Amino acid sequence: MAEQTIAVVLAGGIGQRVGAPAPKQLIEVGGRPILAHAIAAFDAHPGVDTVLVVMAAGHLRTAAALAAPFGKVGGVVEGGDTRTASTVAALRALEGHPDTARVLFHDAARPFVDAAVIGRVLDALEGYDAVAVGVPSSDTIVAVDEDGLVAGMPPRASLCRFQTPQGFRLGTVRAAYALALADPELRATDDCGIVHRYLPDVPIRVVEGSERNLKVTHPLDIVLAEHLARTPAATD
Ligand code: CTP
Ligand code: MG
Repeated sequence: MAEQTIAVVLAGGIGQRVGAPAPKQLIEVGGRPILAHAIAAFDAHPGVDTVLVVMAAGHLRTAAALAAPFGKVGGVVEGGDTRTASTVAALRALEGHPDTARVLFHDAARPFVDAAVIGRVLDALEGYDAVAVGVPSSDTIVAVDEDGLVAGMPPRASLCRFQTPQGFRLGTVRAAYALALADPELRATDDCGIVHRYLPDVPIRVVEGSERNLKVTHPLDIVLAEHLARTPAATD
């Protein structure tokens, strides 16, 4: 791989749904903060050259101290009010990198992303400019209208739940965000959502994620994460 691969760890949120006094990514599970787990996974991956951390305002020094032991961390930048704004902050920080670089956007709230998942995203980026990570849904997923009535039941086999990292050629994600930011109707979505909406001709390859790669979202997820942090991966 000649081009640089940059992993962006998005930790710009405040974790409202977990409702802890500090952002959820600073909560310790298995003896270290969730954010440190996420950084460690990319820092240790041989296919990743640089890690950029995007942190919520007011916690930049905490993030810098937490990131200091990881040799690949190239910087900590301040995020924005939404995940989209935090991604845009990262893209600004990456302005000096060529369009051919690879960039992986990862939720800091997913501490148990592993080398296999990261590797599948990087491998798929050899053939695609946009790559997502998905897992099958064990629940049936339905569309519900504003009256609370079922409006559609897509076949479950065709559905998956997205996780992160999502990987892109930097030029592709730059072009998609340039169009998105010019759109007054822009609604919050993830990075693949932005590419899908604004560059509909770009195929997005979906590779297999992992059930361990959960996003800590609700208080119960902290209990689960604490347990997973102490349970070897082989027991999935
Ligand atoms: N994120 C971000 N900047 C924001 C909002 C979210 O970088 N302004 C990051 C979060 O830190 C998290 C990831 O995006 O790692 C996924 O977002 P989510 O799980 O929704 O985290 P929060 O927004 O912090 O949680 P909540 O929605 O419950 O407030
Ligand atoms: Mg959020």
